[in-house]
Amino acid sequence: MQIRIADEADLSTIKSLLGTNDLPVADISKALIAGFLVAEDASGLVIGIGGLEQLGSSVLLRSLAVAPEARGLGIASALVARLEDNARACGRQDVWLLTTTAERFFERVGYKNVSREEVHREVRLSRQFAALCPSTASCMRKRLRTATSAPIAERPLSN
Ligand SMILES: CC(C)(COP(=O)(O)OP(=O)(O)OC[C@H]1O[C@@H](n2cnc3c(N)ncnc32)[C@H](O)[C@@H]1OP(=O)(O)O)[C@@H](O)C(=O)NCCC(=O)NCCS
Repeated sequence: MQIRIADEADLSTIKSLLGTNDLPVADISKALIAGFLVAEDASGLVIGIGGLEQLGSSVLLRSLAVAPEARGLGIASALVARLEDNARACGRQDVWLLTTTAERFFERVGYKNVSREEVHREVRLSRQFAALCPSTASCMRKRLRTATSAPIAERPLSN
């Protein structure tokens, strides 16, 4: 499996994977998928997707889906980790999301439920929050840790 940045040619596959998982497709566009990643299997077939949507100074993780036959292999966890790296690289400290189906998955990867009142205004006013997802969805946030130094194993040895 390899993860790469989505491009225009992935648009219909992304819509199809989202559609079959009952996730919002109405606002999926070429511009939006610039913030998306896809996971491909060895034959180049897209088996997982996930994206970041920039909302002012906030960032929303959305459209995470893995093909049913490829679930339970860590693909979504890998996509989330890469999306968080991208958010961190853009200077974001928090990642927000809305979910009706995968709250427990996101808890496992470090997201915590927050009340709607705690959600940044720009996120609350987004199309996903305002219209695309039902009002019963869980709002979750992860505070990203800033990488202040290289992991110990990557530090040059000194004597
Ligand atoms: C949620 C989803 C993306 C997870 O994909 P995945 O590649 O199977 O996830 P991973 O293999 O990285 O799973 C990591 C862990 O979470 C668990 N997990 C996966 N989906 C879960 C869910 N919906 N609820 C609770 N736990 C879940 C796995 O069992 C695994 O646990 P383990 O590490 O103890 O083995 C996938 O089930 C999916 O596409 N669901 C439909 C679309 C959806 O609901 N997306 C969320 C939109 S916000």
